[in-house]
Amino acid sequence: MSDIMTLSRYILQRKRNYDGATGDFTILLTHLALAMKVVARQVAKAGLLDVLGKTGDHNVQGEQVTKLDVIANELLISLLNDLPMVCAIASEETDEMCLTHAGRLSGRYLVCFDPLDGSSNIDVNVTIGTIFSIRKRAEVGCEATPEDFLKPGSEQVCAGYAVYGSSTMFVYTTGDGVDGFTLDPGVGEFVLSHPDMRIPDKVTCLSVNSTNRKNWYPETCAFVDHISSGSDPRYKSTSSRYVGTLVADVHRNLLVGGVFCYPDDRKSRRGKLRILYEAHPLAFVVEQAGGSATDGNRRILDIVPDDLHARVPLILGNTREVELYGEMWQRAHVAEAENADARA
Ligand code: AHG
Ligand code: MN
Ligand code: MN
Repeated sequence: MSDIMTLSRYILQRKRNYDGATGDFTILLTHLALAMKVVARQVAKAGLLDVLGKTGDHNVQGEQVTKLDVIANELLISLLNDLPMVCAIASEETDEMCLTHAGRLSGRYLVCFDPLDGSSNIDVNVTIGTIFSIRKRAEVGCEATPEDFLKPGSEQVCAGYAVYGSSTMFVYTTGDGVDGFTLDPGVGEFVLSHPDMRIPDKVTCLSVNSTNRKNWYPETCAFVDHISSGSDPRYKSTSSRYVGTLVADVHRNLLVGGVFCYPDDRKSRRGKLRILYEAHPLAFVVEQAGGSATDGNRRILDIVPDDLHARVPLILGNTREVELYGEMWQRAHVAEAENADARA
């Protein structure tokens, strides 16, 4: 305990790796971590503060918004608004991109976030989280536009998340591996607890909402059946785990090995999860931890969203399984094309 490595110390030590010597990135990342500490405190006292329950509003996705989503969203926006290095913000809970007060002209960084991931779990006291992604724009000196956000995930300079679980963790990457920090509530600081996180090469967990099976396409059925059957020794001890909070499912699989799957299906033709706020940042983290992420056909980090709130099928986790899903996707699509030809 005499030499605890706090997140701020760690970022300062590694600063030269990401931002020359300006210190802008360090300030931005420490403010994001601060916002997540404040959200963690709100989450911890959610019941006491009467922030449970619904506001009755709906977000741009047409889903009901709970109060903690609003609190987390406003908190992140207000903290980032005052940072001169941030020019614009895109949030899952806000229809339009917001230009910041302080940095709208001169700020270099664009920040995206899902302020409260797993909002259906708030009322039942189950793990929720926050996901963020940082990009740099090509030109400064003018106002950012939504198009500045519509870039491949490989252009992110940093991404990460907080999980508000039995303890609060902050996990991030700048493209040089993944590090995890645990909030020490006594000190009020994130402390390095999981340096250089690597996804274990074993499939401990398969995470998928199986009640959607009635709507799945053949590749998803084939993939889930193959793993669940246990005919391959690699999957003998694989177990099903699904929290229903993306960031909690991905975090667990990162620690123990596994694959998360939210595919497109006959009902959700573009999938459910959002490219900018969920798929891109988590794909960046998972790839940096040695895993992979696909929509079936394309690497997630190569996908360019056509809208701030665009959705995508998301399969991520151990590289072998993500590649297997891709092969099954190809096979199913070739078969479909052959059937269509035969019918023509
Ligand atoms: P959000 O709370 O930000 O809207 O995200 C909810 C997402 C994600 O966290 C989770 O993996 C998924 O919805 C669960 O969806 P289903 O309930 O359809 O399984
Ligand atoms: Mn979410
Ligand atoms: Mn959300």
